[in-house]
Formats: sequence, C-alpha cells, structure tokens
Amino acid sequence: MRLEGKVALITGAAFGIEGELMGFGGASARLFAREGAKVVVTDVAEEPGRRTAAGIKETGAEAMFLHLDVTDEAEWASVVEATVRAYGKLDILVNNAGTGAFERVEDLSIEVWDGQMDVHAKGAFLGTRQVIPEMRKTGGGSIVNISSIYGLVGSPTSTAYHAAKGAVRLFTKATAVQYAKEGIRANSVHPGFAMTPLTEGRFKSGSESIEARLAVVPMGRLATADEVATGILYLASDESSFVTGAELVIDGGMTAA
Ligand SMILES: NC(=O)c1ccc[n+]([C@@H]2O[C@H](COP(=O)([O-])OP(=O)(O)OC[C@H]3O[C@@H](n4cnc5c(N)ncnc54)[C@H](O)[C@@H]3O)[C@@H](O)[C@H]2O)c1
Repeated sequence: MRLEGKVALITGAAFGIEGELMGFGGASARLFAREGAKVVVTDVAEEPGRRTAAGIKETGAEAMFLHLDVTDEAEWASVVEATVRAYGKLDILVNNAGTGAFERVEDLSIEVWDGQMDVHAKGAFLGTRQVIPEMRKTGGGSIVNISSIYGLVGSPTSTAYHAAKGAVRLFTKATAVQYAKEGIRANSVHPGFAMTPLTEGRFKSGSESIEARLAVVPMGRLATADEVATGILYLASDESSFVTGAELVIDGGMTAA
C-alpha cells in the first residue's frame, strides 16, 4: 500500500482496461488504486475512461472518471473542484495526456506546432497551476509530468513533439524549484518506445518503423505500459520524498548508447 490515503488525478488515463492494451496513464491508474490511492481517471475519450474507472472499482478500490481536455482552462478548474469535493484533497497529479506529430521542420504547419505545444506543454502548465493551491492546503504533493526520450534527444522526424516534450522537461524543473519549500515536488518521466494505444498503429511487428526503433534500443524490445507505470508510482509516492526536478529515463538503454 505505497499510496495509502492519497488522492491522485491522472490525465490521458482512459486506457487501463484489464485484458486490453494499456497506456501509461491507464496502467498507472490501476497500479495507484492497487497501492491504496483514490484515483480520478480523466481523458477526452469517455467510453474507455468510464470502463477503466469501473474496472478499478470492481477490484474494491475507489475511482471515478471525469472528462478533461487538458488544453481547457475552465475544465481543469471544474475537475479539480470535483475531485476535492468527492475525495477531500488532491495529493498527486500525473500530466500524461498526449498525441503524436511526425513532421520535419519544413513540413510542419503552425496548426500542428500549436496543437503539440497545447496538449503537452500548456496541458501540464494548466494542470500544475490548478493543483498547487490544493496541494498547499495539505502541506505538499507530487506532480509527475510525462515527457519522453524525445524530450531529451532529437530524431529525423517529430519536430513539434520534440519541442513540446522538451518544454515539459524544463517546465517541470521550474515548478520543482519554485515549490520545493512548500513540499510540492515535480519530476519528469522520459519513456522510450512502448506499445500503447497511441503507438499501436505504427509499431506493428515487422514494420519498417518498429525495426528501425528496435535497432537503437540496447535491450532490443519495446517497454510495456506497466514498466513505465512503476516509475511513475515511485515519483508519485513518498518513497521519492527527496527527489524533485529529476528526470527518470525508462528507455531500455536507448539514450545511454
Ligand atoms: N508510447 C510511447 O512510445 C511513448 C513514449 C514516450 C512518451 N509517451 C507519452 O506518454 C503519454 C501517454 O501516452 P501512451 O503512449 O500511454 O498512449 P495513450 O493513448 O494511452 O495515452 C494518451 C491519452 O491522451 C488522451 N488525450 C489526447 N489528447 C488529449 C487532451 N487534449 N486532453 C486529455 N486527454 C487527451 C488520449 O485520449 C489517450 O487516452 C503521452 O504524453 C505520450 O506522448 C509515449
């Protein structure tokens, strides 16, 4: 029970259904609940989000689904308010929602650039700004921002995604420094290539895309959502009480090579 008594809000957490392919947010929701947290599952995808929350409740744990588009300031306010109304406080925020974009610099439109900055960078900013007053009331909290190895290094594609995930990395450090004295910690997680609902289409076995990626991963395989969720759990829990502004890389050795 590593999160006993904690209340956690996770964005982009719709895909955490037993027996189906899970995303990092959904896998974290299940793991957090198993470790004793009350979990608020949020996403723009309503049907799988409701099923994920219902599945957690079937295990005897406490969870609810709330619709949240992370780019919507007003929706953030109402979701945080509903969380505190239902569960009394908010200890943990995981900013996980995201989408992909693959254009090279010269092929990149302003719309795609803005969309990536909105969902990753602005999403994490709006969420963080909304939860800090609630965390302050209880004397602290933990914010875990899901960046990527693509927030650490470049690649031949994915320009706007790199820029947005890099912004998440430094936004996390700014938050960590500014709120350390108040017991509010902020850390970033940098997953490598993983098979999730987001990547399922591109990472088909035998495809050119997957072969090229596996060739640069020393462990020679993809991560599972659970392997990333256990890292998120560590940063969310009090076990990481002296860890803030840190980057947890979970990439099978890719960025070490
Ligand atoms: N899968 C990978 O290889 C990989 C690697 C590194 C980082 N990541 C990052 O991990 C995070 C989780 O992705 P995943 O791979 O687990 O896939 P996922 O599909 O489970 O998660 C993404 C979720 O975000 C939701 N979402 C999209 N736009 C949203 C918005 N505006 N508001 C709220 N929710 C929104 C989607 O509906 C989806 O449920 C993302 O930020 C992604 O960029 C993924």
